[in-house]
Amino acid sequence: MSYTTFEARPLSGYIGAYITGANLKDEHNARMWDELNQAILEYKVIAIRGQRLSPGEHMAAVKHFGAPCFYPFAKGLADFPQMTPIIKESHEREAFGNDWHSDTPYLAEPPAYTTLYAIDTPLRGGDTLYCNTQAAYEELSPGAKKLINGVIGVFSAGLKHGRGGDRAAHFSKITTMPVTNSEHADRYESKHPIVRTHPQTGKKALYVSALHTLRLDEMTERESRPLINMLNDHQITPEFCCRVQWEPGQLTIWDNRCTMHHAVNDYHGNRREMLRLTARPEKPT
Ligand SMILES: [Fe+2]
Repeated sequence: MSYTTFEARPLSGYIGAYITGANLKDEHNARMWDELNQAILEYKVIAIRGQRLSPGEHMAAVKHFGAPCFYPFAKGLADFPQMTPIIKESHEREAFGNDWHSDTPYLAEPPAYTTLYAIDTPLRGGDTLYCNTQAAYEELSPGAKKLINGVIGVFSAGLKHGRGGDRAAHFSKITTMPVTNSEHADRYESKHPIVRTHPQTGKKALYVSALHTLRLDEMTERESRPLINMLNDHQITPEFCCRVQWEPGQLTIWDNRCTMHHAVNDYHGNRREMLRLTARPEKPT
């Protein structure tokens, strides 16, 4: 699809585009907001470059995609409590979001969209990987699709299968970012179908990750883990992925209903600061 209000440069065969020429301060450009919503549906993740947004302008832009959501495990800005800083200082080793996941699937209504605005980026490294979970579903065999359609996953915020321990252990090593509430992470649990249907496109996508899907409903963790791990690994096949590079003034928006992402932690000794805001709470079906 071609766009009239900005340029879109695809990042890979299945997912991702850089957007240039859009001005997110242009509140009344209805055509641009409509085309940006179309571009998210087409590319699933769009990295809009060349912006210079205050938190208020970031908030105003995101409202064109849906109602802002709260994140339970980080303190927000005083004026905009839904907006959370994502910071890794040069002396830190641990990074936020450093494993494959879709955002907050342990909530009853996870946000359809996540937006991340780059304030300070390392000269190299600190990219984010994304995968297209709709393409991953479509490329499964008919037998595998039959096996998993209708299966319900139990999603937990506890990060029990993350590297280096649970959420509290992980967050204890993140010293600069205003993390909070991680000792209560196990209380955040929801059940959703592991094959979900996108409400706007009608397309099915996988909705399952080794990090957040604790087990399958009516099954033990031990019984569930091989299938969860296989589906996780299938989704991150290189052909379904793209790599987004960051620069200050870039607002990246992705659709959590048909993607997963992974923040690459390869910039030790350098500082990275982002501002995160999610939007459009929606019950997966
Ligand atoms: Fe994330």
